Amino acid sequence: MNTALPELRLDAADPAAIDADVLVVAVANRSGEIDVEPTAADGPSPGAAALGEDAARALRDAARAVGHRAKEGSALRVPAPTGVAATSVLLVGLGEAGTSSAATLRRVAGTALRALDGVETVALALPLREAGDVAAVVTGALLGAYRYTAYRADGAGRGRVASVVIAAPAASQPEADEAATVARAVAAARDLVNRPPLDLFPQSFAEAVVAQAESLGDRVQVEVVDDDELRRRGFGGLIGVGSGSTRAPRLVKVSYSPAGAERHLSIVGKGITFDSGGISIKPAAKMEKMTSDMAGAAAAVQAVFAIAELGLPVRATAWLALAENLPSGSAMRPADVLRIYGGKTVEVINTDAEGRLVLADALVAAQEESPDLLVDVATLTGAQVAALGYRTSGVMGTPGAQQRVLQAAEAVGEPMWGMPIPGEMIGYFDSHIADLKNAGAPAGGMLAASAFLRAFVADGVEWAHLDIAGPAYASDPHGYTTVGGTGVPVRTLVETARALAG
Ligand code: BES
Ligand code: MN
Ligand code: ZN
Repeated sequence: MNTALPELRLDAADPAAIDADVLVVAVANRSGEIDVEPTAADGPSPGAAALGEDAARALRDAARAVGHRAKEGSALRVPAPTGVAATSVLLVGLGEAGTSSAATLRRVAGTALRALDGVETVALALPLREAGDVAAVVTGALLGAYRYTAYRADGAGRGRVASVVIAAPAASQPEADEAATVARAVAAARDLVNRPPLDLFPQSFAEAVVAQAESLGDRVQVEVVDDDELRRRGFGGLIGVGSGSTRAPRLVKVSYSPAGAERHLSIVGKGITFDSGGISIKPAAKMEKMTSDMAGAAAAVQAVFAIAELGLPVRATAWLALAENLPSGSAMRPADVLRIYGGKTVEVINTDAEGRLVLADALVAAQEESPDLLVDVATLTGAQVAALGYRTSGVMGTPGAQQRVLQAAEAVGEPMWGMPIPGEMIGYFDSHIADLKNAGAPAGGMLAASAFLRAFVADGVEWAHLDIAGPAYASDPHGYTTVGGTGVPVRTLVETARALAG
């Protein structure tokens, strides 16, 4: 793993006295005037010193001198005025004074760290108003500091921020530590997504999971089902999709079962380590983005690792459906019929509708354990991008499960939107030869794909399907979202588990 996020420390001293290369200070618009947004003193987080009056005045003058408009997302770096221990100050815009929410702080801290390259130590003095604000700053700062440098010839450490100091009371330490654990899980998911498909294929993905599990001691168990066993046990979706590649499919199960846990969350992840489309090959333009077609599996496994590291009192299982979708003389063809685990048959119309085939296998397997909540996560359809864009994931499923996921997403600030599964859409998948065919919707592709998946979910099972096709991968970095894999929806999955634990 390449999860070298910065070290994290809280400091309750006057931020002006914190010894750092860069001090990040918020600038806001107060009744038409640019001002420095006060730090801890006016918030419900007693115990941290506020920015001293002289330093605040000097920084306010600096912000006005450089024409800062306090627009959210803006960041201007100035030399530190007298009285500020840091070498320079990054003045980040917060919008209207007194209005910043945890979501604003998360984004602004991310913007700040994304803007800072080649800086050793960064301190952040942002206004902490409500419970959860320290966690938001931690999340934003650590994720904004993420860089993927494993494939740079000139050294993996280049440009990395080594240490982040947050002006916050010592009492916030547990909240900060938890947020940091989850942020590191998000970073680990990003690492998996960012690893090129030459090096990340089903077997190497499974090996990376085994290695990471070992570093967690005996808290999680990993089972890897290889291609021989998949064939023997009848996982026709994984075998069919994987048949065009020399690098065989795997099904990986990661289990965390703490003593006394009453509820069980199962997370199924689509893990296509590269999706060329197969025989129904994709156009060349943007095909390289299909290195991220395993983002669902990456999020599923890192969420379960984080749930285990946090010791949440809930059973959590990840099922990773791993295959590489390539065209070759041994590839599945349009017209082939596959037998999904459990017995249902699917006629392949389009080999590029491969995600639903591997998910069907894994969904059926996951239900053998009768989880209380079943969530699948997949970069499933281009239609998701058309409907909701690059930042908002689609959430389909049974009403209860859909609500649970949407509530968790709202709590952690990952944009998601509930969408229906119109009853008639299953009719698009009527086949003349098999139980279903895998493609055929004339419109509403995200919803139709959900109808297909629902055919593999037994009545009475609480199930949600997350289509993250757009949000899994960022070409346009913003806030705490860096270029490449985003790690969406690890934070929502961890929060879903926390809420299920009760
Ligand atoms: N992995 C793609 C979906 C995708 C598209 C993810 C864009 C991220 C960005 C998926 O396997 C796919 O090819 N889906 C097809 C299904 C169709 C053939 C029924 C699609 O959406 O076009
Ligand atoms: Mn595809
Ligand atoms: Zn795909």
